[in-house]
Amino acid sequence: MMNLKGWRRIKMSSLDVDEQDSSDLRSTSSHKGKASAKAENAKAEDGKKGEKSPEPILDEVSEKIENKPLDKSSNAAKDTNDANTTKNTNTTKNANTTKNTKDISIMDLPGVGAATAEKLINGGFDNLMRIAVSSPGELVNVAGVTEMIARKIIKASRDGLNMGFESGVELLRKRKEVVKISTGSKAFDALIGGGIETGAITECYGAYGSGKTSLAHQLVINAQLPVGQGGAGGGVVWIDTEGTIRPEYIKQLAEARNLDPMKILENFRGVRSFNSDHQMLLVEKVEELIKQGFPLKLIIVDSLMSHYRSEFVGRGTLADRQQRLNKHMHALLKLATNYSLAVYVTNQVMARPDTFFGDPTEAIGGHIVAHTSTVRVYLRRGKKGTRVAKLVDAPALPDGEVVFQITDEGIKDV
Ligand SMILES: Nc1ncnc2c1ncn2[C@@H]1O[C@H](COP(=O)(O)OP(=O)(O)OP(=O)(O)O)[C@@H](O)[C@H]1O
Ligand SMILES: [Mg+2]
Repeated sequence: MMNLKGWRRIKMSSLDVDEQDSSDLRSTSSHKGKASAKAENAKAEDGKKGEKSPEPILDEVSEKIENKPLDKSSNAAKDTNDANTTKNTNTTKNANTTKNTKDISIMDLPGVGAATAEKLINGGFDNLMRIAVSSPGELVNVAGVTEMIARKIIKASRDGLNMGFESGVELLRKRKEVVKISTGSKAFDALIGGGIETGAITECYGAYGSGKTSLAHQLVINAQLPVGQGGAGGGVVWIDTEGTIRPEYIKQLAEARNLDPMKILENFRGVRSFNSDHQMLLVEKVEELIKQGFPLKLIIVDSLMSHYRSEFVGRGTLADRQQRLNKHMHALLKLATNYSLAVYVTNQVMARPDTFFGDPTEAIGGHIVAHTSTVRVYLRRGKKGTRVAKLVDAPALPDGEVVFQITDEGIKDV
């Protein structure tokens, strides 16, 4: 049951931040005119530290980590408050919470008393944005209100929200804040526009042994490097559906770059998922982990489709599978945009019997995965043990192919 004091304090100020502006807050570059001078200074300090050497960031990151396992988490409303007060979300976040403040809480919506608010929050409608984009039917089901009240609640939520139209200049500024995590290969990075981007889902698909999991191991290291040195200066969570995390390989890769392997491993969380429902639940738990203060910058899902593929067999189950998959992908995308973090998913392939020319392999997951992944890369074995990465789909980037290799020291150029 909800802690009433907890959810009463979910104000518009914090909701806006969670839903729309967290990307700003967690970014390492400064935002002119938004944060207070104090926050600006704090950020500038952080930036300077990061430029000096890779180690300070890793130190900071490891200090920030609370060694709480994924599944031990408190309720969502409490976390929302915690997130706004925890030292890890820093001065910048607090400064930015003043933006767009309209001071409307769920309790301020028409027809919402304590009992209805509790039902709404328990049903997942724990912020105004979620309510604003819901249908009256959903609220009727969850909160037991009449349809007329549901419509009023939705309208009031919409009126209370800044729906976030941004000028081109603002969008360009945000684009500049996107951080790119290096794959380890300069050629591969160049192919995908500089690296695995924050705020987006990058999908690599390919046959067994094509290098998908090897790249994931490399990204565990690289994501933790400072911004400007091929990293995003944050921790990594790996949702593992196949039991293929090799901490000893992570250690080996860290040592190859003269990094402290124990710090790298401390800033890393691996979690095994046992079925597709569990996989979806884990994405929610990842958000709780962030709210507890884990400085997450990269989520790995390896592999995205294996549970879905084995659980939903036969044509009759396809619609249901795609619906769930859609929900899962959008939950990942939402985390990517709300928290300015990168999502790397791996995917399996199937042979297309109707292809007569060229490579007959195709990623599984259909249109849902194809459209939700921001960047799609096809990996395959090349000559002499090399690997080939082919850019299949990315906004404003030309298609192309590059060769790289997997070595004892990780992903490298040939
Ligand atoms: N240290 C290394 N040196 C050279 N090649 C390596 C090294 N480590 C792994 N490999 C190559 O990488 C392959 C494993 O690739 P990886 O596990 O990344 O494939 P995958 O795409 O994840 O495959 P799957 O679909 O089975 O999960 C091995 O078969 C091997 O060829
Ligand atoms: Mg693999």
